[in-house]
Amino acid sequence: MSKYKIAVLPGDGIGKDTIEAAINVLDAVGFSEKAEYTYGDIGWEFWCNEGNPLPDRTIDLLKESTCSLFGAITSKPKDEAAKELKPELHNKGLVYFSPIVKLRQLFDLYVNLRPCKAYLGNPLNFRDDIDLVVFRENTEGLYVGIEWHPVPEAVMKTIVENHPKAKRFAEANLDDVAISTRIFTRDGVQRILKASMDYAKKFAYPTVTVVEKPNVIRETSGMMIREARKLIENYEDVELWETNIDAMAMWLVKNPQNYGVLVASNMFGDIVSDLAAQLIGGLGFACSGNIGEKFAVFEPTHGSAPKYVGMNKVNPIATILAAKMMLDWLGENDLAQKIEEAVAAVIAEGKARTYDMGGVTTTSGMAEAICKKIAELN
Ligand code: NAI
Ligand code: MG
Repeated sequence: MSKYKIAVLPGDGIGKDTIEAAINVLDAVGFSEKAEYTYGDIGWEFWCNEGNPLPDRTIDLLKESTCSLFGAITSKPKDEAAKELKPELHNKGLVYFSPIVKLRQLFDLYVNLRPCKAYLGNPLNFRDDIDLVVFRENTEGLYVGIEWHPVPEAVMKTIVENHPKAKRFAEANLDDVAISTRIFTRDGVQRILKASMDYAKKFAYPTVTVVEKPNVIRETSGMMIREARKLIENYEDVELWETNIDAMAMWLVKNPQNYGVLVASNMFGDIVSDLAAQLIGGLGFACSGNIGEKFAVFEPTHGSAPKYVGMNKVNPIATILAAKMMLDWLGENDLAQKIEEAVAAVIAEGKARTYDMGGVTTTSGMAEAICKKIAELN
């Protein structure tokens, strides 16, 4: 029996191409001998034909799996999504939801881990000495979706009665007010901070920078900073830095090489990780892991890039590095390292370059170059 059960979810568009490339690379390092891959359904096709972009059978598959490798999905705003349902599914009250957000919530994948490392020779690097790791909280904060428009009278009344700064909204027309909440819990804050500090300790990063805005968002960002100051006491060799999200955008452009591990709440982490990813080559290189206590889903951060569907053109390195992260999470660190060395060597040689890197190498061509390099390095 295989040691690992991997749920492979290619999804839509270029997700199919980049997942195939990553599986070829996993084969090349010999991982496939230890693993059983089961392909699962997710994405737009299943929304249109079944009214559910994350069918129950896929959730069942994930529950039986060790972890998952996911490509990308297409998603569209609510009204547009409803129009594309097949005719028999119209007027049934089906509402589109993001399957990846649902997965994060369903499996409590509270860490969104995004390593951003510059590989020498990548023509897209902002600098060559960048090695950042972003920890984005994945289950709380502004993206949970506790929002109102129009605002229910009872909600407005409660806020006005309970907060002096809300008095000025007391007479507002409820239809002209929208509220989005940003809820943090102490447990939620502690576990993302702890994950970031453990990582810094394990991989010898000297600093963990909390990226929030506690001088203005006093209670939520404030809770994050207060908890960070307490927790860091347990980590002798890791220094805590505190930087506001706006200043961080500036510092990341000015001195990205000075930073190691960054940790932030959901929205700030989303923003700062896109900025960090662009510093090391952008979407073709940006890999990520959605990680919980017992389960994890690894994916490139890009979407389905509809304009490149079926062209075998996009850069598979983001998905290949996501597969590498998966191996690290499984404890297959030697195999992970082989993949990383081969990726680094292929980039350094500069012979295989996809279009985003200024070259003409195809998706499958890049995977082939990396597989060949793995064989050479063995
Ligand atoms: P996208 O990430 O799919 O692509 C934007 C552009 O980035 C592409 O047109 C291409 O120029 C470039 N790009 C993306 N991946 C690349 C790669 N591997 N190599 C080279 N260049 C690459 O974002 P977009 O166009 O905003 O969204 C397309 C669809 O994907 C939408 O339906 C969106 O909702 C969905 N999406 C899904 C995500 C996911 O599955 N986690 C994440 C982001 C978007
Ligand atoms: Mg994003």
